[in-house]
Amino acid sequence: LFGFKTNKVSGYFNPISHSTEDQLLLPPGFKYDVIAAFGDKINERGDTFGFNNDYTAFFPIDGSNERGLLWVNHEYVSELFVTGPKGAGGWTAAQTEQMLYNQGGSILEVYRDQNGVWKMDTKSKYARRINGLTMFKLTGPAAGSQAVNGATTVRGTFANCSGGVTLWNTVLTCEENYEDTCSEAGLNETHYGWVAEIAPFEEKWEVRKHTALGRFHHENTCMGLSKDGRVVVYMGDDKKDACVYKYISNGKYDSAAGYNNSKLLEDGTLYAANFKAGKWVALTLEAVQKVLSNAKWSAPFGVKGTREEMLAIFQTQGDVLVHADEAALLLGATPTDRPEDVEISPFDNTVFIAHTNNDTHGNIHGHVTRFFEKDGDLAATEFDFEIFAAGGRQSGFSAPDNLTFDSNGNLWIVTDMSGSSMNKGVFTSFGHNGLYVVPTSGKAKGEALQFASAPKDAELTGPTFTPDERTLFLAVQHPGEQSKSMGELTSMWPHRAGDKMPRPAVVAITGFKF
Ligand code: FEO
Ligand code: CA
Ligand code: CA
Ligand code: CA
Repeated sequence: LFGFKTNKVSGYFNPISHSTEDQLLLPPGFKYDVIAAFGDKINERGDTFGFNNDYTAFFPIDGSNERGLLWVNHEYVSELFVTGPKGAGGWTAAQTEQMLYNQGGSILEVYRDQNGVWKMDTKSKYARRINGLTMFKLTGPAAGSQAVNGATTVRGTFANCSGGVTLWNTVLTCEENYEDTCSEAGLNETHYGWVAEIAPFEEKWEVRKHTALGRFHHENTCMGLSKDGRVVVYMGDDKKDACVYKYISNGKYDSAAGYNNSKLLEDGTLYAANFKAGKWVALTLEAVQKVLSNAKWSAPFGVKGTREEMLAIFQTQGDVLVHADEAALLLGATPTDRPEDVEISPFDNTVFIAHTNNDTHGNIHGHVTRFFEKDGDLAATEFDFEIFAAGGRQSGFSAPDNLTFDSNGNLWIVTDMSGSSMNKGVFTSFGHNGLYVVPTSGKAKGEALQFASAPKDAELTGPTFTPDERTLFLAVQHPGEQSKSMGELTSMWPHRAGDKMPRPAVVAITGFKF
């Protein structure tokens, strides 16, 4: 790939090399604008941008590619940069509030000015925060059940890793590693680990968590339609030895119904993948109880407990959804190597899954799996699969995480090597985390070309194109995370004048020529 042959960021570029510079590096001819960094005011009320930005989603205003709403996830906070250290008496009320306020998501209004620079419009009537203090309605079979201690509303969303968009202009944000915040803030774990839905343009639309999509360490969602018009949502569970899921609605999508299509996420079937059989297994109470009715039952890999203990846990469909990861393993779904993002190819309906790694089984660099649903129907209950690309020296990337497609059929992959292992041992050759472009067909199929290199300790997350692909939004998460103190900072990215610490920030990447 040489030079520019199109006016799209997703067009041609000269790949960069692995790097250890404390910069967000891009190929020659491309630049980035910092749209919002941790602590920046996002609206006239004075709400501020949260910490550790992750997933992004762009919602055009009046069909524009140069003005729209940008949803941004905020995954977790830092003691050093956000709350300060925990005191002998535990977290203060103010620290707990900071912990919850700076997670969740931001809705920004963003635009490209006449000089081609992307900015945030802080006078926006839409810009607002959703965070760990926002009240959510619970929907679906577990809402109000004993499995969630009878709750029909719950406070806050946090640990928001990746997400997805719906066909009806809302965003789904995924609660991943919720345990830490639950334990630090004294919250009920069964109220977190869900997929939450928000309508960025409609502040009055009640934000909700959909229990029908199951509770686990949700990485993201990817929504498509079955051949007969039902909604299908693919989901990863980012934990070692965890399963790949899909949800199929009972009702059919109706484009005229707008936001009311949200009901489709309240009534349907949750499945998990059995790789060996090539089958999607429905997670139903009947199926779980049938397995447990066998007096000779013994716990499969990954499940801890006796048959009596399991029978006590699984009494309603709400219990199956709250303990979806255990139910999946009980029913024979396959434990895999940390399934992160799942994306449906817009070209052939094959489904790509990033398995980031799993050092307990020697899968150090991870891989990307590709599913072929039977007859190309997303509602199929049978599938075949291949390993599409393997991490390692040969492909040039390690620890694939978020995925997105461009209109040329390339898969864009960001990597998430942990800060503590980066640049050491078998990770040395990869340099910092990066953004790679991998063709899914043609001569260069499976070859990774590097498009971006992250600042020190950072991870690049949430790549999202505008519909015309002239802009790529990217969230730079946890620069300087390995810093031991304010006096020994490992990064100062984004290197803003007068700043005294590194800041997670979301950027817009464009080419100089367009
Ligand atoms: Fe938060 Fe699964 O990465
Ligand atoms: Ca992730
Ligand atoms: Ca992360
Ligand atoms: Ca990750």
